[in-house]
Amino acid sequence: MSGIGILGFGAYTPSRVMTNEDWSQYVDTSDEWITSRTGIKTRRIAAAEETTVDLAEQAALAALADAGVATEEIDELIVATDTPEVYMPDTAAFLQHRLGLREVPAYDLGGSGCAGFVLALDLARSRALSENATVLVVGVEMLSRLMDWSDRNTCVLFGDGAGAAVIGARAGAAEILACVAGTDGSQTGILQRETGGTKKPFSKELAESGEFLKIDFNGRSVFKEAVRRMTASAVAVLEKAGHQLSEVDLVIPHQANLRIIQAVTKSLGLQPETVFSNVEKLGNTGSASVPLALVDARECGSLHSGDLVLMTAFGAGFHWASALIRF
Ligand code: UT7
Repeated sequence: MSGIGILGFGAYTPSRVMTNEDWSQYVDTSDEWITSRTGIKTRRIAAAEETTVDLAEQAALAALADAGVATEEIDELIVATDTPEVYMPDTAAFLQHRLGLREVPAYDLGGSGCAGFVLALDLARSRALSENATVLVVGVEMLSRLMDWSDRNTCVLFGDGAGAAVIGARAGAAEILACVAGTDGSQTGILQRETGGTKKPFSKELAESGEFLKIDFNGRSVFKEAVRRMTASAVAVLEKAGHQLSEVDLVIPHQANLRIIQAVTKSLGLQPETVFSNVEKLGNTGSASVPLALVDARECGSLHSGDLVLMTAFGAGFHWASALIRF
């Protein structure tokens, strides 16, 4: 056991609620279609004046307050996001300054898809262990700003939000018992945003056609991979920590789609009440989804002291990651 744990966590969601009916004003869709395919009913949309750093800042402040840790005590900052503040430098640089952190290492896990927060947690645990560091981890996404509002295949799925956690060594903290992560880069084209990189730089034509917002997305393939990888990495992290599935009190899966969560629940043979979901109210918030679900689980009384909690996430890459935590 490393003795490294979650000292505190917090989240932030913008106040504007967008319903499925609201979406039907923008694209040819319906509450019936969205609900039956995804379980999503509402999502949050950032205000025009908000940017990624605003969301990240609020979640970070909530996590720091929850942990009872001051900004000057933070030794490192990791931000997981696919919707950065600007193209360069990374969002972590903006957030380091905004929070008034010391001149500590601060960097993004960009492009890590919806697995970003759990990947960052794994990294933070290693850094906390090797450097005796207190690490602030943030998962933040403002997908509403960077998606195609006319593409019904993707736009209805996402929402904005941020979640954060402070990782370090402290007696009595929620100990991170084990983490596992993996990547299969053979299927990048199934879920990708191609425009803006060296392969397909921004151009006048891409901007005028709106194509720069396009996300290549094969929903069915992503669905199958998500179920397969989240199930396998959940089993792997339990094995690594020497625990049984029957000992798990609460599972916090990535919140992409209620049907994906139900399929993972079934393939692991779990009782549905063990598996937390808030996708109905927040939609898919990418790398923010796991910490947002954790905060919601605590607020609604589903997370108790002593609980063995399994987090599992999957996203573009494909990347996946799981963590086992004793709260
Ligand atoms: O976090 C990781 C990233 N994302 C995911 O994990 C998402 C994974 N995939 C999914 O959640 C599901 O595949 C979707 C929710 C995206 C789609 O559900 P599905 O059951 O796989 O849908 P489908 O393929 O059976 O249905 C597609 C049909 C198409 O119509 P045709 O070609 O069959 O006539 C679409 O045009 O549904 C149509 N469609 C819509 N209809 C109404 C697609 N989006 C919409 C929409 N409203 N918003």
